[in-house]
Amino acid sequence: MVSAYCLCLVLILLGTSNAQLGGEPHDNAHPESMVSVGRAVAAAVSSVPLRNAAVPGLRMPVVGIGTGGYAFSPSQHGEIWNDTTAQKAVRKWIQLGGRRIDASYSYTDQIGVGKAIAAAIAAGEVTREELFVVSKVGSGGLIPGAAMGYNDTMVQIGPILSSLQMKYVDLLLIHWPGPPGKSKDPACQGQPATFKTCRQQTWKALQDMFKQGSTRAIGVSNFEQNHLQDIIDMKELLPSVNQVEYHPYWHEDDLVKFCQERNITFNGYSPMSCPDYAPPTHGWSHSALQEPVVMQIAQVHSADPSQVLLAWELAHGVVVNPRTRNPDHMTLNLQFEKVKLSTDEIAKIAAIVPPEKNKVCPDPHQYK
Ligand SMILES: NC(=O)c1ccc[n+]([C@@H]2O[C@H](COP(=O)([O-])OP(=O)(O)OC[C@H]3O[C@@H](n4cnc5c(N)ncnc54)[C@H](OP(=O)(O)O)[C@@H]3O)[C@@H](O)[C@H]2O)c1
Repeated sequence: MVSAYCLCLVLILLGTSNAQLGGEPHDNAHPESMVSVGRAVAAAVSSVPLRNAAVPGLRMPVVGIGTGGYAFSPSQHGEIWNDTTAQKAVRKWIQLGGRRIDASYSYTDQIGVGKAIAAAIAAGEVTREELFVVSKVGSGGLIPGAAMGYNDTMVQIGPILSSLQMKYVDLLLIHWPGPPGKSKDPACQGQPATFKTCRQQTWKALQDMFKQGSTRAIGVSNFEQNHLQDIIDMKELLPSVNQVEYHPYWHEDDLVKFCQERNITFNGYSPMSCPDYAPPTHGWSHSALQEPVVMQIAQVHSADPSQVLLAWELAHGVVVNPRTRNPDHMTLNLQFEKVKLSTDEIAKIAAIVPPEKNKVCPDPHQYK
């Protein structure tokens, strides 16, 4: 792991202060210096090796940008991200040194993500090889018509790659362990009491996409232990990553342990507890960023509460993808590794009493 100390050193050598990285930067900056600063920041972000179904040597940066802004369902509240929002945010993220981008066709802004990446590559800000792009195959009705099962999954890779304007993604995930949607696969038809066979057929498709080179690693998302066990029972490739909701109000530490014992990297989503998803009408009126314990620990470390939350996740071996369109927040998120929490501080955050509604997304335990 490269330390925050190295990051500071690189910035000093470049004659660049952290403040210069924030705000709406670079409009007047010399493009070459902007690219150098971005590269220096990127080099200082740690990465973890991916195991199981991943090409040998593949590493995943510990921080990415989330691009899922609830565009698919305005009724669910939260910030709406469209192609324009995603294009602007992802381009800025790359310029500031972000290298991992968490996308999905179902977020309905992946075309914007693809445009930002193509423009950044064309402008010489980054190469395709330096980036780590994640996408997801749909289920649960997020993409109209998308479904689980072998064939229904295989047909999704074309639109994913063309919207991203690339030949391969770095990581492809099964978005949800169920329901199967309007799948034509016999294993997924109807409403079976368990979606086990359907889930296994979907994983077969991901394995084939991996073998064909459409993705450099494959994994799952929102998979609980029983869902992972379905994949383990196949005795084929194991997922390299499981992306699951994780923040102080919802942290399934048994699931983290289960994954880590099997070399499955745990990727936490909604690390800020999705504060924009918070209209009181929805019953979600808490933000982990404003928890007194988090704010107090931030003060001790001269850090921002957001950095404390991200450091808390990494202290559990959990990698993160906070969503932000604010360049100042991007900079904070890229530099969170400077915060090293004590055992006592980690325990204090884990002990925060969650609000009654303590989960942003639906509970995947409902899928058998
Ligand atoms: N696999 C799945 O089923 C699944 C489900 C949900 C999410 N995800 C992924 O995980 C990503 C993140 O989760 P999320 O979008 O639900 O929630 P989140 O990242 O916890 O919260 C996003 C909110 O946090 C704010 N924020 C980000 N960084 C900040 C900082 N440093 N300081 C202050 N505020 C900050 C953003 O506001 P500003 O824009 O103002 O900074 C935004 O309103 C998604 O975008 C998506 O890529 C995956």
